Amino acid sequence: MAQHTVTGGAGFIGSTIAKSLLNRGDHVTVIDDLSSGYASNLEQLPGVDFIEASVLNDTAVRKAVAGSDTVFHLAASVGNKRSIDDPISDAKTNLLGTINVLEASRSAGVRKIVVSSSAGIFGELKELPINESHPLEPDSPYGVSKLAAEKVCLAYSRLYDLEAIALRYFNVYGPNQRFDAYGNVIPIFVFKLLNNEPITIFGDGEQTRDFVSVHDVVQANLAASKSEGVSGAFNIASGTRITINDLVSMLDERIPMNCEIRTGEPRPGDVRDSLGDIWKARELIGFDPQVSLDAGLTEYVDWAQQEIKRT
Ligand SMILES: NC(=O)c1ccc[n+]([C@@H]2O[C@H](COP(=O)([O-])OP(=O)(O)OC[C@H]3O[C@@H](n4cnc5c(N)ncnc54)[C@H](O)[C@@H]3O)[C@@H](O)[C@H]2O)c1
Repeated sequence: MAQHTVTGGAGFIGSTIAKSLLNRGDHVTVIDDLSSGYASNLEQLPGVDFIEASVLNDTAVRKAVAGSDTVFHLAASVGNKRSIDDPISDAKTNLLGTINVLEASRSAGVRKIVVSSSAGIFGELKELPINESHPLEPDSPYGVSKLAAEKVCLAYSRLYDLEAIALRYFNVYGPNQRFDAYGNVIPIFVFKLLNNEPITIFGDGEQTRDFVSVHDVVQANLAASKSEGVSGAFNIASGTRITINDLVSMLDERIPMNCEIRTGEPRPGDVRDSLGDIWKARELIGFDPQVSLDAGLTEYVDWAQQEIKRT
């Protein structure tokens, strides 16, 4: 039976990857300190081995990766705002935590590490669409720590017998993505609208984002783990973009909008535009996004309605 480790597997994307691996009959160990993940996500993972610990705990990390073929490394302090609020914790988890996972993985003879990177490493858009050779000038401590994390993974792939693939996600959305102070725009808007609370558009709303469904992100992770002899960094996006104003219009079609729409100043660390070029991931790892924003938003609003009833 194939055996894998998912760090950050109680989180939004990690739990969806773990579910997909378990559904195909693989053995999965999750290590997560539940700092931004949810025990309720683990309840959706029957048969998972769960280690509640930080990736900064090297004994726990060694236990978590022992016997694994692939390590999906998602545990991170996530988001620009969180990193501006607490840059030290961001750097510890995202860089030192990643080195801990790499050290344990190479000692355990893991074949491949698939690390979740972020489009935040590019900083302000200089070329459209953004391909992998776009300048790397992150605008936040988070962008810097994610860049360092992907670079150290790729360095290990050159130093040791450990393949490494960094997947640079653009804006991921989908079921299991909850709304919190550091949440992304889709969960914030959907949960607020469903609760009849005002939403705030920062700036003029004409900023663009490339939203990619979590189901497509899972497919990218599974394809990356299957690839043989490939190491490198790949954009994982939908290859399309939408303005925040148009996103609000799409949500208006799904949620009757009785609430106020406020405007606020653009947030520090946020980029103006985003659009990923996904040619490299299509060609080299077989990434093949399937979920349109139209279908994905409908699925997400349905899930959020159930989640509000459940909690
Ligand atoms: N959601 C997005 O749009 C997006 C975009 C780009 C990159 N990413 C990356 O994808 C990965 C998953 O993000 P997510 O959106 O699922 O966020 P998430 O917050 O739901 O998941 C992160 C998980 O890591 C865990 N974690 C945090 N610090 C830890 C530590 N020290 N030790 C062990 N576990 C720890 C959290 O408890 C959580 O379960 C992250 O690496 C993130 O940087 C996400």
